Order: sequence, then structure tokens, then C-alpha cells
Amino acid sequence: MEKTFLMVKPDGVQRQLIGDIVSRFEKKGFQLVGAKLMQISTELAEKHYGEHKERPFFGELVSFITSGPVFAMVWQGENVIATARQMMGATNPKDSAPGTIRGEYAATVSKNIIHGSDSPESAEREIGLFFSQEELIEYTRLINEWIY
Ligand code: PPS
Repeated sequence: MEKTFLMVKPDGVQRQLIGDIVSRFEKKGFQLVGAKLMQISTELAEKHYGEHKERPFFGELVSFITSGPVFAMVWQGENVIATARQMMGATNPKDSAPGTIRGEYAATVSKNIIHGSDSPESAEREIGLFFSQEELIEYTRLINEWIY
């Protein structure tokens, strides 16, 4: 089953959006298999955003993500990587559709509430950066073909 890494950024935590965001993914039918409120170190932030090192906003990105607690999560489900990205909405909130998380709650690209892995490779890398194997809980949900 596919897994993705999602993170409520410091602005989302400060604005008390954790519950709303978790609820959206639960209601969609995805399964939460790991979660923690944490303060990201500069070292971890630089690793996490390593592919953006040469971009002009890299410093701002690192200082923002380390500015306060984040809520890191691992979600599991069919096509969860791409579906979660759709539910988040476009990276720049000026382009994110109404009804998406960023479409509802964000107004600027530098503070856009949530991060989500953009591919199976980045999901695997990001899950490994933020969670140990013991922190991911495999459990059975009582589901059938129409309760999912
Ligand atoms: S994406 O979704 O990875 O394709 O988006 P991308 O445009 O490559 O942006 C990567 C992350 O950088 C953030 N970002 C910015 N931060 C500050 N200032 C500016 N101008 C800016 N532009 C993009 C963007 O929110 C992405 O963060 P994450 O956490 O990956 O969503």
C-alpha cells in the first residue's frame, strides 16, 4: 500500500489547523500510520529541502520551517501521494482551487500551510528522514468493499 509524508507547517500549527487537516484525510479514507508534533532542526530542514538548495528562497524556506513546531504525518492508501497533493491544492495559493487546503486557508507561497511528498521516491526519502521504523504503526482497519 502506498505511503506519503505530509506535514502541517508552522503557520498551520499556529492557526490551529491540525485537526481540520487530519480530518480531511481521514474522511477521504486514508489511514494515519505515523504522526508527531516536532521542532525541526536546521540540519533536518536543509536535508529535507536539499533539492531546492540553489533556489533564491532556500534560506527563507529553512528559516520558516524551523520557526515553530510542525505536525509530521505518514498516511497510507491507494494513490495517496497524488491524491494528497490534489487535496492540498497548488503550491502557490493564488492558483490553488477553492475547497483544497491551500485554496481555503493560504494566501502566500511562502506560508502555504502544508507540505506533501510529490513522488514515490520523495515519499520514501522524506518518511525515512522524519520517522523511524518503530514510529510507523501497521494496524488493521475494519473495512469492506464499501467502507474504506
Ligand atoms: S513543488 O510543489 O515542490 O513543485 O513546489 P516548488 O515551487 O518547487 O517549491 C518548493 C518548496 O518551496 C516553497 N516555495 C517558496 N518558499 C518561499 N518563497 C517562495 N517564493 C517560494 N516558492 C516556493 C514551496 O512552498 C515548496 O514548499 P513545500 O514544503 O515543498 O510545499
